Amino acid sequence: MSPREQEILRRTQLSETRVTKAVFPPTTNHHNTLFGGTALAWMDEVSFIAATRFCRLPLVTVSTDRIDFKHPIPAGSIVELIGRVVKVGNTSLKVEVEVYVESMSVDGREKAIQGLFSFVAIDDEKRPVPVLPGFTEREAALA
Ligand SMILES: CC(C)(COP(=O)(O)OP(=O)(O)OC[C@H]1O[C@@H](n2cnc3c(N)ncnc32)[C@H](O)[C@@H]1OP(=O)(O)O)[C@@H](O)C(=O)NCCC(=O)NCCS
Repeated sequence: MSPREQEILRRTQLSETRVTKAVFPPTTNHHNTLFGGTALAWMDEVSFIAATRFCRLPLVTVSTDRIDFKHPIPAGSIVELIGRVVKVGNTSLKVEVEVYVESMSVDGREKAIQGLFSFVAIDDEKRPVPVLPGFTEREAALA
Protein backbone atom coordinates (compact mmCIF):
# COMPACT_ATOMS: atom_id res chain seq x y z
CA MET A 1 0.00 0.00 0.00
CA SER A 2 1.43 3.44 -0.97
CA PRO A 3 1.77 6.25 1.62
CA ARG A 4 -1.15 8.01 -0.10
CA GLU A 5 -3.34 4.89 0.15
CA GLN A 6 -2.39 4.45 3.82
CA GLU A 7 -3.26 8.07 4.55
CA ILE A 8 -6.59 7.72 2.74
CA LEU A 9 -7.42 4.61 4.79
CA ARG A 10 -6.46 6.33 8.05
CA ARG A 11 -8.46 9.45 7.28
CA THR A 12 -11.43 7.49 5.98
CA GLN A 13 -11.66 5.65 9.30
CA LEU A 14 -11.21 8.86 11.33
CA SER A 15 -13.84 10.76 9.35
CA GLU A 16 -16.77 8.34 9.44
CA THR A 17 -19.71 10.34 10.75
CA ARG A 18 -22.86 9.02 12.46
CA VAL A 19 -25.84 11.13 13.47
CA THR A 20 -29.01 9.79 15.09
CA LYS A 21 -32.29 11.67 15.00
CA ALA A 22 -35.91 11.21 16.09
CA VAL A 23 -38.54 11.79 13.40
CA PHE A 24 -40.86 14.25 15.15
CA PRO A 25 -43.75 16.28 13.57
CA PRO A 26 -41.80 19.34 12.30
CA THR A 27 -39.81 17.04 9.95
CA THR A 28 -42.74 15.11 8.44
CA ASN A 29 -45.01 15.59 5.41
CA HIS A 30 -48.73 15.08 4.69
CA HIS A 31 -48.11 11.29 4.42
CA ASN A 32 -46.89 11.37 8.03
CA THR A 33 -43.43 10.26 6.90
CA LEU A 34 -40.09 12.08 6.91
CA PHE A 35 -40.14 14.93 4.33
CA GLY A 36 -37.65 14.17 1.51
CA GLY A 37 -36.19 17.70 1.62
CA THR A 38 -35.44 17.31 5.32
CA ALA A 39 -33.76 13.95 4.67
CA LEU A 40 -31.62 15.56 1.94
CA ALA A 41 -30.61 18.43 4.24
CA TRP A 42 -29.59 15.96 6.98
CA MET A 43 -27.64 13.88 4.43
CA ASP A 44 -25.89 16.95 3.02
CA GLU A 45 -24.83 18.00 6.53
CA VAL A 46 -23.55 14.53 7.51
CA SER A 47 -21.63 14.18 4.23
CA PHE A 48 -20.17 17.66 4.68
CA ILE A 49 -18.98 16.81 8.22
CA ALA A 50 -17.38 13.53 7.05
CA ALA A 51 -15.63 15.30 4.14
CA THR A 52 -14.44 18.11 6.42
CA ARG A 53 -13.13 15.65 9.03
CA PHE A 54 -11.27 13.86 6.22
CA CYS A 55 -9.34 16.87 4.91
CA ARG A 56 -9.87 19.71 7.44
CA LEU A 57 -10.08 22.19 4.54
CA PRO A 58 -12.82 24.58 3.34
CA LEU A 59 -15.16 22.60 1.08
CA VAL A 60 -18.04 23.26 -1.29
CA THR A 61 -20.61 20.77 -2.54
CA VAL A 62 -20.06 20.32 -6.28
CA SER A 63 -22.66 17.63 -7.03
CA THR A 64 -24.96 14.98 -5.65
CA ASP A 65 -25.25 11.70 -7.48
CA ARG A 66 -28.18 9.37 -7.43
CA ILE A 67 -30.22 9.39 -4.23
CA ASP A 68 -32.43 6.35 -3.65
CA PHE A 69 -35.40 6.56 -1.33
CA LYS A 70 -36.01 2.84 -0.78
CA HIS A 71 -38.46 2.93 2.15
CA PRO A 72 -40.64 5.62 3.72
CA ILE A 73 -39.57 6.73 7.19
CA PRO A 74 -42.63 6.92 9.46
CA ALA A 75 -43.18 9.72 11.97
CA GLY A 76 -42.18 8.53 15.42
CA SER A 77 -39.23 6.44 14.25
CA ILE A 78 -35.49 6.79 14.81
CA VAL A 79 -33.05 7.35 11.96
CA GLU A 80 -29.29 6.98 11.87
CA LEU A 81 -27.26 8.65 9.13
CA ILE A 82 -23.79 7.29 8.34
CA GLY A 83 -21.39 9.26 6.13
CA ARG A 84 -18.22 7.62 4.74
CA VAL A 85 -15.62 8.93 2.30
CA VAL A 86 -15.66 6.42 -0.57
CA LYS A 87 -13.50 8.13 -3.22
CA VAL A 88 -10.62 10.57 -3.00
CA GLY A 89 -9.51 12.51 -6.06
CA ASN A 90 -6.96 15.28 -6.33
CA THR A 91 -9.15 18.20 -5.20
CA SER A 92 -12.42 16.34 -4.73
CA LEU A 93 -13.99 13.78 -2.40
CA LYS A 94 -17.06 11.58 -2.66
CA VAL A 95 -19.02 10.74 0.48
CA GLU A 96 -21.67 8.03 0.59
CA VAL A 97 -24.50 8.55 3.04
CA GLU A 98 -26.74 5.73 4.23
CA VAL A 99 -29.87 6.40 6.26
CA TYR A 100 -31.24 3.60 8.44
CA VAL A 101 -34.70 3.61 10.02
CA GLU A 102 -35.66 1.85 13.24
CA SER A 103 -38.86 1.64 15.24
CA MET A 104 -38.96 3.13 18.73
CA SER A 105 -40.64 -0.04 20.01
CA VAL A 106 -38.93 -2.94 18.17
CA ASP A 107 -35.25 -3.94 17.78
CA GLY A 108 -33.68 -3.94 14.30
CA ARG A 109 -33.31 -1.48 11.45
CA GLU A 110 -33.32 -1.27 7.67
CA LYS A 111 -31.67 0.96 5.12
CA ALA A 112 -34.18 3.56 3.88
CA ILE A 113 -32.11 6.05 1.83
CA GLN A 114 -28.70 6.06 0.17
CA GLY A 115 -26.91 8.83 -1.72
CA LEU A 116 -23.56 10.16 -2.88
CA PHE A 117 -22.27 13.70 -2.36
CA SER A 118 -19.17 15.26 -3.98
CA PHE A 119 -17.11 18.05 -2.47
CA VAL A 120 -14.20 20.16 -3.71
CA ALA A 121 -11.59 21.74 -1.41
CA ILE A 122 -11.05 25.43 -2.16
CA ASP A 123 -8.59 28.17 -1.24
CA ASP A 124 -9.27 31.81 -0.30
CA GLU A 125 -9.88 32.65 -3.99
CA LYS A 126 -12.41 29.76 -4.22
CA ARG A 127 -10.06 27.77 -6.48
CA PRO A 128 -9.75 23.98 -6.12
CA VAL A 129 -6.80 22.78 -3.97
CA PRO A 130 -5.55 19.24 -3.20
CA VAL A 131 -7.54 17.44 -0.50
CA LEU A 132 -4.37 15.66 0.68
CA PRO A 133 -1.49 18.13 0.37
CA GLY A 134 1.76 16.16 0.61
CA PHE A 135 0.00 13.04 -0.71
CA THR A 136 -1.27 14.27 -4.11
CA GLU A 137 -1.99 11.84 -6.94
CA ARG A 138 0.94 13.36 -8.87
CA GLU A 139 3.36 12.77 -5.97
CA ALA A 140 2.02 9.23 -5.58
CA ALA A 141 2.67 8.57 -9.29
CA LEU A 142 6.26 9.86 -8.95
CA ALA A 143 6.95 7.85 -5.75
C1 LIG B 1 -16.49 23.44 -7.00
C2 LIG B 1 -15.77 24.40 -7.98
C3 LIG B 1 -14.81 25.28 -7.18
C4 LIG B 1 -15.01 23.54 -8.95
O1 LIG B 1 -14.44 24.41 -9.88
P1 LIG B 1 -14.03 23.86 -11.36
O2 LIG B 1 -13.38 24.95 -12.08
O3 LIG B 1 -15.20 23.13 -11.93
O4 LIG B 1 -12.91 22.82 -10.94
P2 LIG B 1 -12.25 21.68 -11.80
O5 LIG B 1 -12.87 21.51 -13.14
O6 LIG B 1 -10.77 21.98 -11.74
O7 LIG B 1 -12.56 20.38 -10.94
C5 LIG B 1 -12.11 20.26 -9.62
C6 LIG B 1 -12.50 18.90 -9.10
O8 LIG B 1 -13.91 18.83 -9.00
C7 LIG B 1 -14.39 17.69 -9.71
N1 LIG B 1 -15.69 18.02 -10.25
C8 LIG B 1 -16.00 19.09 -11.03
N2 LIG B 1 -17.31 19.07 -11.32
C9 LIG B 1 -17.82 17.96 -10.70
C10 LIG B 1 -19.13 17.39 -10.63
N3 LIG B 1 -20.18 17.94 -11.22
N4 LIG B 1 -19.29 16.26 -9.89
C11 LIG B 1 -18.25 15.67 -9.26
N5 LIG B 1 -16.97 16.18 -9.30
C12 LIG B 1 -16.79 17.31 -10.03
C13 LIG B 1 -13.34 17.43 -10.79
O9 LIG B 1 -13.41 16.10 -11.24
C14 LIG B 1 -12.09 17.75 -10.02
O10 LIG B 1 -11.79 16.65 -9.17
P3 LIG B 1 -10.29 16.12 -8.92
O11 LIG B 1 -9.38 17.31 -8.72
O12 LIG B 1 -10.38 15.29 -7.69
O13 LIG B 1 -9.90 15.32 -10.12
C15 LIG B 1 -16.83 25.28 -8.75
O14 LIG B 1 -17.57 24.46 -9.64
C16 LIG B 1 -17.80 25.98 -7.80
O15 LIG B 1 -17.44 26.94 -7.13
N6 LIG B 1 -19.05 25.49 -7.72
C17 LIG B 1 -20.04 26.05 -6.82
C18 LIG B 1 -19.99 25.35 -5.47
C19 LIG B 1 -21.13 25.79 -4.58
O16 LIG B 1 -21.46 26.97 -4.53
N7 LIG B 1 -21.75 24.83 -3.86
C20 LIG B 1 -22.93 25.04 -3.08
C21 LIG B 1 -22.68 25.60 -1.74
S1 LIG B 1 -21.50 24.74 -0.77
